Amino acid sequence: MTINYVDIVCGLSWGDEAKGKITSQLSLSGQYDYVCRWAGGNNAGHTVYIKGEKFKTHLVPSGIFYGIKSVIGPGCVVNLKSFLSEVKYLNNAGFDTSLIKISPKAHLVTEKHVRDDRKETYIKLGTTARGIGPCYASKASRHGVRVSSVEELKEYMWDEELQGNILCEGAQGFWLDLDYGNYPYVTSSATLPYASCSLGFPPQKIRKIYGAAKVYDTRSGIDPEFPESLLDDEDLALVGEAGEEYGVTTGRRRKVNWLNMDKLVKSINLSGTTNVILSKVDILESVNIYKFSYKGAIINFNSIDDMKWSINDILNLECELLKTITYSSSPQKI
Ligand code: IMP
Ligand code: MG
Repeated sequence: MTINYVDIVCGLSWGDEAKGKITSQLSLSGQYDYVCRWAGGNNAGHTVYIKGEKFKTHLVPSGIFYGIKSVIGPGCVVNLKSFLSEVKYLNNAGFDTSLIKISPKAHLVTEKHVRDDRKETYIKLGTTARGIGPCYASKASRHGVRVSSVEELKEYMWDEELQGNILCEGAQGFWLDLDYGNYPYVTSSATLPYASCSLGFPPQKIRKIYGAAKVYDTRSGIDPEFPESLLDDEDLALVGEAGEEYGVTTGRRRKVNWLNMDKLVKSINLSGTTNVILSKVDILESVNIYKFSYKGAIINFNSIDDMKWSINDILNLECELLKTITYSSSPQKI
C-alpha cells in the first residue's frame, strides 16, 4: 500500500488555537491510518476531551486517544523523562501506548539543553524552558544526539514508510515559525505545513490543510508585538479571564489582543489553508465585546453575527485557496 492522502492541522497564530480539538474530531472520523507530529517537542501542550474528560499531552500525537498509530517524526525533539512520563500517564488512563512510534532520526533533548534554556539569553526570549532551542542548535551544528542511541526508547523506534491516509498534527503556530515569526521571539522549528513533508511524503499527497485560529489573538511568552501593556486593557482582560488564557505547558498568563485580520489573511495564504476553524466564539459572546483589527484600525461590531459576516467577507475576498470557514463555540467539539 502506498500513501493515499495527507491532511494537515496547523496553527495560524501563536499556538493555543485548539489544534488538539480539531485533530481529535478528525481522528474520530476513522479515516486515518496514522496521526503524526512533524516538529517541536514538549514545549507544546495539546488539550483533548474524551467523553467529557480532559487529557493533556505534550509530545505524543492525539491519535493515541483513538487507537491510531501515532508517529513522532524525524523533525521532532524528544525529552526522555518527559516522554516516558507521558507514556505512563496515557497507559494509566487506559490508552494503547504500543501505538506510539518514534523516528530514530528525531533528536534527544538532553539535561544540558534544558539547563542552557534556563540561562539569560533564552530567558530574555521567554521560552518554555524545555531545552528546545539548544537541542535544535545542537542538531543544526551536527553534534546532536539522535533518539536511536537511547536504549530506553528502543521499543518505540519505527523507521518504516507511512501508508494509507495520514493526518499531520502541527505544534505551535504560523507566527512562531523560525523563519516567519517575529525573530528571535520564535520557536526553533518550522511550524508551517510544508514542513510536514519531512515525515516522508511528497507535497503532492497533501489534500486538505485545516488552519486553526481563534476569534481573538493570544500570545504566551515574550513578544514585542504583544506588549505587557495589553494586560492592562480592561476589555482584553475580560476576554483573557473568560477564555482561561493560561499556558497548558507553563501556566503563564497569555497576552490577549483583538484578532489581527491582516496577519490571519497572510497565515492562511502562506500556509495553504483550505479549511479554517475559528474557535472560542463563545468567549467573545460571554463578554459581549466584538472587535478585530484590519489594515491597522480596530473595528467594533454590535454582535457576533456582524463580526462573523465581516470576517467571512475579508477571507473570501483575500484567501484564494480557502474553501470553508467554520466557527466553534465549544472546547470539546467543532
Ligand atoms: P520554545 O519553543 O520553548 O523555545 O519557546 C519559544 C517561543 O514559542 C516562546 O514565546 C513560547 O512561549 C512559544 N511557544 C512554544 N511552544 C508553544 C506552544 O505550544 N504554544 C504557545 N506558545 C509556544
Ligand atoms: Mg497548545
